[in-house]
Amino acid sequence: MKAKLLREALGNFVTGVTIVTTSYDGRDIGLTANSFNSVSLDPPLVLWSLAKKSSNIDAFMNVDAFVVHILGADQESLSNKFATRSIDKFEGVDFERGIDGVPLLRDCAARFECRTAYRYDGGDHIIFVGEVLDLEHSEKEPLLFHRGKYARKTYPGGESGPNRRDLNYLIARAYFMLTNEVRLEAAGLGLSPVDHYAFSVIMQGGPATIEDVNAMLGASGWHWTENDIQRLASSGYIELDEESRLSLTKAGREPMIGLFAKAKAREADAQSAFSADQLDQLRSLLSQLLDTLETNGENGSTPHLEVMHALQADQDN
Ligand SMILES: Cc1cc2nc3c(=O)[nH]c(=O)nc-3n(C[C@H](O)[C@H](O)[C@H](O)COP(=O)(O)O)c2cc1C
Repeated sequence: MKAKLLREALGNFVTGVTIVTTSYDGRDIGLTANSFNSVSLDPPLVLWSLAKKSSNIDAFMNVDAFVVHILGADQESLSNKFATRSIDKFEGVDFERGIDGVPLLRDCAARFECRTAYRYDGGDHIIFVGEVLDLEHSEKEPLLFHRGKYARKTYPGGESGPNRRDLNYLIARAYFMLTNEVRLEAAGLGLSPVDHYAFSVIMQGGPATIEDVNAMLGASGWHWTENDIQRLASSGYIELDEESRLSLTKAGREPMIGLFAKAKAREADAQSAFSADQLDQLRSLLSQLLDTLETNGENGSTPHLEVMHALQADQDN
């Protein structure tokens, strides 16, 4: 049987990605492996296999402890590093030490400290079975491997609710979850979502008239009224110059800087679950969506809306 064909067929089995580490002869050793699997709950046993050609085969044949780390979705570059031969894989990697001084990598989805229980010959690989002596796990999304490429879990509905296929729901929920804390804090300062958004516009763009601000708020569907201006001026948050341009006072700017920092921290936390490539992809898809929506907005109506209007007109007649 051709190895290429076998590899292709096996690639249809989706796996997680692990890094297995050990210490041998005063050296720290580790490699990426997706051959990991669970074996037994009682006793707690897991397995993985190592190519006999691996430069680390002697090490794993001679030690009796290893640690398996299940990688999170944001650890693609760590996986690549530990799959690269002849480099110092631990350089710049933050780790502590566990069983028999074996390196314990941080921030993984799970990790298992194992005592080697059995070794089996498995063709061009050796199968290692380890008894789990200690473990740790988190809620992190796992990194997946499918058909020779990294992958991430998606939610086909059911498990996480039918709304996971509804784009309006996903975008709105992501927006609310990202901004909830900051919006609540702004509300506590007497700032409505419109005020908060308009303040950001003035902070970033400098003094502006109410017409300028409303033009920039355009896409949100919100606008500021004279009453809003009076309310915020009497709270001491904004002031008007001789040319009727609005700017933030010190009392307006200071809480905005705090809110801005909080929003950025929340964004950074949310981004930490993604790799740099995934973030680029997410940005580019959302930008594409915006471009499409803005273009449709300029032209008035989309083909779908035209069909809906036609149906509505039929019903009305
Ligand atoms: C996703 C992925 C899974 C891998 N799984 C295994 C595996 O289960 N067993 C193995 O021997 N090599 C596996 N490799 C290859 C090793 O990580 C790679 O050959 C590494 O360089 C071995 O280190 P060494 O040759 O320096 O010992 C995998 C590589 C990747 C990218």
